[in-house]
Amino acid sequence: MTPTLPALQRIAPFLKWVGGKGQLLEQFCPLMPASLAGRGYVEPFLGSGAVFWDVIQTKNPSRCTLLDANAEVVNLFVQVRDKVEELLPLLGEHRRRHNTPGLSEEDRKAYYYGVRAARPAGGTVEAAARFLYLNKTCFNGLYRVNHKGEFNVPMGSYASPAIFDAAHLRAASRLLQGVRIETSSFRDCERFIADGDFVYLDPPYEPMSATSSFTAYTKDAFTRADQTALRDTLLRLASRCQWMASNSTAEFIESLYDQPRLFKHHVQASRLINSVSAGRGKIQELVVTNYPATQDRVGGMEPAPRAAQDQSRQLSLWNRGGTDGPALARDAGSAPSPDIAEGLARRGLRGRS
Ligand SMILES: C[S@@+](CC[C@H](N)C(=O)[O-])C[C@H]1O[C@@H](n2cnc3c(N)ncnc32)[C@H](O)[C@@H]1O
Repeated sequence: MTPTLPALQRIAPFLKWVGGKGQLLEQFCPLMPASLAGRGYVEPFLGSGAVFWDVIQTKNPSRCTLLDANAEVVNLFVQVRDKVEELLPLLGEHRRRHNTPGLSEEDRKAYYYGVRAARPAGGTVEAAARFLYLNKTCFNGLYRVNHKGEFNVPMGSYASPAIFDAAHLRAASRLLQGVRIETSSFRDCERFIADGDFVYLDPPYEPMSATSSFTAYTKDAFTRADQTALRDTLLRLASRCQWMASNSTAEFIESLYDQPRLFKHHVQASRLINSVSAGRGKIQELVVTNYPATQDRVGGMEPAPRAAQDQSRQLSLWNRGGTDGPALARDAGSAPSPDIAEGLARRGLRGRS
């Protein structure tokens, strides 16, 4: 029997991603519009899409566009959307080969490094399965490539990594129906954004210091020139849509966004602070909006319907702990507001059992 999601389970990211925003959803909630009914949503730095999964399940946007410069991330989302039934057996085979009971560490490594060395054609379901398998079995879910763009992260030391959950991927696939997903640099994102859209941007963070751990996510580092170009893009967009951007509190970034009619907020994240520190610590992160955001109101928009606020809060509670948290999150029982329920039903996610 095909496993399906029980009613009102929530979809969280299926990818582990450094800098994933799962743990910040609760703090983002009061900074974002309560509903996006009748408006488009665009996310130019998708990664694992923690904010997108929250938005599509709680804010009912009229359409969504997801962009990232990392073609492997984009291909995984595209294949989950379009070919999930072809993807699942390929993932099942990776899981079987990696987690075979009694497999020696040497044999498991041979399998991992064999897959890592393989070069399936880009844009295929095989490439997507390889990418998700490596993501879930490599060291800390890191994404790092050499100058030729070849993934070079060593195997992680997980006893029996889950790798994927079929019901989760099928439900994610349903939510992704009708979502536009493209490989694109943020430098081209303006052409994907219509007047009145809501845009959330989460670029690679400016490091806080020379010793900060930093992941480029693509073979090109995200430079200060990129940070400045992004700020300039946002200043242009400010006249035609609402946006929210996150970044580090590095001095360079703080001063980049010291601009009239921009609003700075600070949230608390739990992150690896630098490569020397062994553990995680609390660190402040910057959120900039081009509208005044307060606890109950965002830029003069309607107050959040109670049910939507509750749902966002519940989702973020479930998502605490980052993108590697529970793949499926169970709602504590409140009914979704009518526009959100309608949006979920359109995507085939209401009343499944
Ligand atoms: C901080 S991560 C986004 C994390 C995401 N918000 C999440 O919750 O998982 C930054 C993303 O920007 C992407 N990226 C890096 N350089 C880019 C560029 N020039 N244009 C667009 N995306 C880029 C990376 O591939 C990465 O997925």
